[in-house]
Amino acid sequence: MVSMIRDLGLAGPGQRKIDWVALHMPVLNRIKMDFTRHKPLAGKKVAICLHLEAKTAYLALTLQAAGADVAVCASNPLSTQDDVVAALVANGVKAFAWHGATDDEYNIHLTRALDCQPDLLIDDGGDLVTLLHTERPEQARHIIGGAEETTTGLHRLRLLAAADRLLFPMMAVNDARMKYLFDNRYGTGQSVWDGIMRTTNLVVAGKVVVVAGYGWCGKGVASRAKGLGARVIVTEIDPVKANEALMDGFSVMPMQRAAQLGDVFVTTTGNRDIIKAEHFTVIKDKAILANAGHFDVEINKQDLAAVAVEVATIRQNVEEYTFRDGRKVFLLGEGRLVNLAAGDGHPAEVMDLSFGIQALALAYLNENQGVLKPGVYPVSAEIDRKVAELRLAALGIMIDHLTPIQQKYLSSTW
Ligand code: ADE
Repeated sequence: MVSMIRDLGLAGPGQRKIDWVALHMPVLNRIKMDFTRHKPLAGKKVAICLHLEAKTAYLALTLQAAGADVAVCASNPLSTQDDVVAALVANGVKAFAWHGATDDEYNIHLTRALDCQPDLLIDDGGDLVTLLHTERPEQARHIIGGAEETTTGLHRLRLLAAADRLLFPMMAVNDARMKYLFDNRYGTGQSVWDGIMRTTNLVVAGKVVVVAGYGWCGKGVASRAKGLGARVIVTEIDPVKANEALMDGFSVMPMQRAAQLGDVFVTTTGNRDIIKAEHFTVIKDKAILANAGHFDVEINKQDLAAVAVEVATIRQNVEEYTFRDGRKVFLLGEGRLVNLAAGDGHPAEVMDLSFGIQALALAYLNENQGVLKPGVYPVSAEIDRKVAELRLAALGIMIDHLTPIQQKYLSSTW
């Protein structure tokens, strides 16, 4: 299968990006050393549908070191970095992706990755698994299993499983503690502000930031906004999370009111129409709109286009929408994941944990081929613990251990 990429000539700078992140991913380095020795994926084909930037590339090379034949495609056309993809091809990985792919091209790229006949797969958001189930159910029945990176992807998988339509086992990587406690919270928290700040070159301190959704991603975005000196408003539909946001020191109110107060809006809900027509009628002049959820449906772009009399790209990744009354709003990264469309994604040290879990989850699936029925499976506590221990070891940090007396105390009922 011939790769479909923008330009193999970009491999040099792409390789330097991969080399940089590899220096900061000690967990994956250690797993790669073990994989190189034991080849747990020998002879297997793996398809990866993730954001194609340097950390993902290093995961692909780790799986290649485990003996797998690896093919990659993108989980979002705007997050693909063409130089990194070129470097992967130069390393013998098959790649089907380019930055800015149209919807049709995006689908062709996913289809080509599946044409490589993978035994195992990694998905981010559920598009690859959905394609298998809707258009290639026969092929799906032969998949050993896969691993899902995101909350959104797991939501889609669980709907499929509940309808009894899931055709192979999927590991819920997102729900591993060493994933969501760090990636969703600190990863999103930092990378979203990195994306917004590098794209706008504006100050955060003193601004009113509205964070829609107080899940782990929303918590991270709100906490980092506070740290940068913003006054933070949280919008929620879950009364428990709304209470949590209040006790964390944030204001809580409906979006209709927040729209009138916010300078910067960040959506993190996983749902659609979080900011829509009724909000645009009252939104503050020069508001900045950014999305951190998987799909570009949280800020309703159709509504935005409908109320605007003029749309112009005024900086890279900044679209200015001018309304009839002269108010303007600025949409970042076309309303796609701002940290990836207008940045490099989560920091390397954070993706080290998520991708450490991914690598071990794939080896686990392969080891348990034929044992696991179709379904969504939690990542085992052992894998979580191993990644946690590898990270502490890399940092040279030691922790205490239970004494036999303490163990006995905890295991006795009275
Ligand atoms: N880099 C690769 N995958 C990513 C993800 N899901 N979120 C943020 N950064 C990433």
